[in-house]
Order: sequence, then C-alpha cells, then structure tokens
Amino acid sequence: MEREKFSSRLGFILISAGCAIGLGNVWRFPYIVGKYGGAAFVLIYLLFLVILGLPVVVMEFAVGRASQRSVALSFDRLETKGTKWHWFKYPAMAGNYLLMMFYTTIGGWMVYYIVKMARGDFAGLDAAGVEGEFGAMLSNPGLMAGLMVLVVVLGFAICAAGLQKGVERITKVMMVSLMVLMVALAVNSVLLEGGQEGLSFYLKPDFQKLKEAGLGEAVFAALGQAFFTLSIGMGAIAIFGSYIGREQRLAGEAVNVLVLDTVVALMAGLIIFPACFAYDIQPDAGPNLLFITLPHVFNAMPGGRIWGSLFFLFMFFAAISTIVAVFQDLISFATDLTGCSVKKAAAITCVAICVLSLPCVLGFNLWSSFQPLGPGSTVLDLEDFLVSNNVLPLGSLVYVAFCTSHYGWGWRNFLEEANTGKGLAFPSGVRIYLKWVLPAVMLFIFLQGYYAKFFS
Ligand code: PHE
Repeated sequence: MEREKFSSRLGFILISAGCAIGLGNVWRFPYIVGKYGGAAFVLIYLLFLVILGLPVVVMEFAVGRASQRSVALSFDRLETKGTKWHWFKYPAMAGNYLLMMFYTTIGGWMVYYIVKMARGDFAGLDAAGVEGEFGAMLSNPGLMAGLMVLVVVLGFAICAAGLQKGVERITKVMMVSLMVLMVALAVNSVLLEGGQEGLSFYLKPDFQKLKEAGLGEAVFAALGQAFFTLSIGMGAIAIFGSYIGREQRLAGEAVNVLVLDTVVALMAGLIIFPACFAYDIQPDAGPNLLFITLPHVFNAMPGGRIWGSLFFLFMFFAAISTIVAVFQDLISFATDLTGCSVKKAAAITCVAICVLSLPCVLGFNLWSSFQPLGPGSTVLDLEDFLVSNNVLPLGSLVYVAFCTSHYGWGWRNFLEEANTGKGLAFPSGVRIYLKWVLPAVMLFIFLQGYYAKFFS
C-alpha cells in the first residue's frame, strides 16, 4: 500500500517545524536559560544545535525516508540481517510516552491561561498575586487532570482525522499565526521600561554567571535543551521523513527546520527576559517562569486581555502541534507493530496517555512530598530529566552509530539517501567527525553532567 504523503513541501517543513517548535521553545527554553544564567548559556546551546543536533536531524529524516516506516519498524527494515538495532524501538517508544506524560500537563496549563486571560483574572495583580493564581491551579489536582485529559483527547481527535486533513492543515495555520504574534510581542517587550537589564542578561554573555550556576551541569542542560527542541533521539522527527518524496535533499530540509525552531526560541526569550526584569521576577523561577511573567506583560498593554488570550492560544497551538506529531508516532508504532486499525490504536493509546499523565499532575499537589531530584523538585522534573538528558542524547547516539557504522545501516547508504534530490548536500567529508568525535563529545558531556548533577 502506498503510504499517505504530505500534500506539499511547505506542509512537510511546517509540520516538522511544528513538531520541533513547541513548549520546548516557549516554555522550556526561557526557564532553562534563566536557571543557568543567561547569554553565555545561550551561546553554548546554539553551538550544540549546529554541531551536535543538526546532523542527527538529517539522520532521522534519512532513516524515516529510506525505511518508509516509523521507528517501530524502520530499524528492522534497514539493519543488516542478524543485528539487533531494532531493539531500539522500545526505549524510543518509552521516551515518546514519557515525554507526553508531562507535556500534556503543561499543555493543560496553557488552556487554563487562555481562559483566565480572556476573563481578565490577572488584571491589576502584582507579582505575588499572579504567582498566587498559578499556585492555586497547581494545588488543584481535579482541575489539572481535567485540563490534561482535554488536551489528550483533542490531540487524538486531530490524529484520527488523518494526516492531511487533520495534522497538516491545522498545523500550517497555527505555526504562521504564532510567529507573527511573537514578533509583535518581542518588539513590545524590548521597549518595556526597565527591560534593558533583561536584554543584557539574555544577550550579553557573562561566563561568570555560568560558573555560578555550575558549569558542568549547565553544559549538560544545554545539550538536553538542544536535543529537546529539535525533537531528536527517539524517532519523533524521523517519522516525517517517511511521509515525503525524494525531490529534496535532507540537509536543506533539516536546516529549514532548525532555523525556524531557533528563531521561535530566541524570540520567546526576547519576550520574557525584559519582562522579568521590568516586573521584578527572578529569571531562575523554574518551570513556572512563563506563567508568572507573561500576565504582567499583558496587564501593562492596551487591549492586553485580548492579546494575552490570543498569545496563549497560539502557544497552545505550538504545543498541540508537537503533541499531535508525537501521538502520530505512538499510533503509527501501534499500527506498524500489531497491524490494528488507526482508530483502534488511537483509542487505546489515548486512554493510556491519560492514565500515565496523572503522576505529573499529582506531583504538584497530593504527591508533592516526592522530590526526586532534590528539594522542591517534582515528578515533572524527573520525567523531563529522563527524557531530555537521557533518552534523547543516548538515542541520538544510536542514530549516529547506525548511520556511520557498517554494522548498522552504513555511511554509504545514509549519504545516498540524504543526498537524493535537489538542494543542500550533506558533506561527505564529515564521516570521521560524526563517527568518532561527536559520540566522544556527547558521552563526555553526559558523564560529566551526571557527575556534576549528582555527586558534586
Ligand atoms: N521539540 C519539542 C518541543 O520543543 C519537544 C519534543 C522532544 C518533541 C522530543 C518530540 C520529541 O516542544
């Protein structure tokens, strides 16, 4: 059977960008940058994006396109007979599930904020007031669970509508609206009175700050953020390779996705950091940073209620386009593996995700005494750490090894697939770098990161 394809190249780029651009850009990036001291961290992050992340994006696309399958079967199809690369599907799928187990909860926060903004609930509140509102939501497990279920069901409904009708059509509109509004808000924030200090925090590298935050841990976090934002390491972006034709070379497509993704993340920082300093909010506030900063921006803006609700709506779009992309992967995993229908796979996976997402919700209230990564940490932090700092970097290493080693798919096959079509070619001279240097650098960052985080 011919596999369903995207209707256009733009559709493919936007939906891959839709998978890459998500909460990682608007929610995670600012808070991680804030936590690790600002501009110097951003530099390291950008470097990692290009030297470590970009090649892996090309590899995932290539494996997806050559195999025409999701990660459930892509390695089975491409590996040399008798090898065990296909076992990777299990950790990869675990990673996809684990990601959704906290991602959908944050998606739910977005929905809540769309409504609260529209109702004007934040009007006139000071910093403590806004934090109070956020805290009240966290301490209400019923509310958060309800929001999470809403997000999950919506995501699966879009998937069930089919690839072109559902995912592609909706994503296109969402991504474009988000980007337009972000530019406007970034300009607004940069011009805020008292925001200058935030700009220099964000844009003027101060390596001293990095040291204060813990250099080893910061570098580890930059690695995690780079891989998280590109969605690489567990087949999430590979699947889009399986939906495209061979007209374009893959490196060019990967660069497009990376540029769009980075622009959105950098813009999110431009919106948030000036506002932090203008309204006296600590940039290292953690996962709630976005939610305690933005209400002030809109309070101070004429028509802020409308703009605020729209902005949270578009950010929710960014989140749901990622959720839909990953759900697509989970569904495809189930259908490729068992041969059941898409509708059946969607229904079962939907229930599973709702149940599995509960620990993250409860981690903020009923289970808040469980602090797995040190004082104040939550289930969310643990799940995020497992995915971003473990599954993604190690999974990326599997892709790298698979594409560069003749025990796997092999360099020649990879290069041929990546370079089929028109556009930017993947340079053949980087094999040694990819085969030896990149894995060594990554393993080093990984090991010293663990050491810095847990033993020093
Ligand atoms: N890149 C997504 C984001 O930035 C998150 C993601 C990670 C999606 C890994 C899929 C796989 O929000």
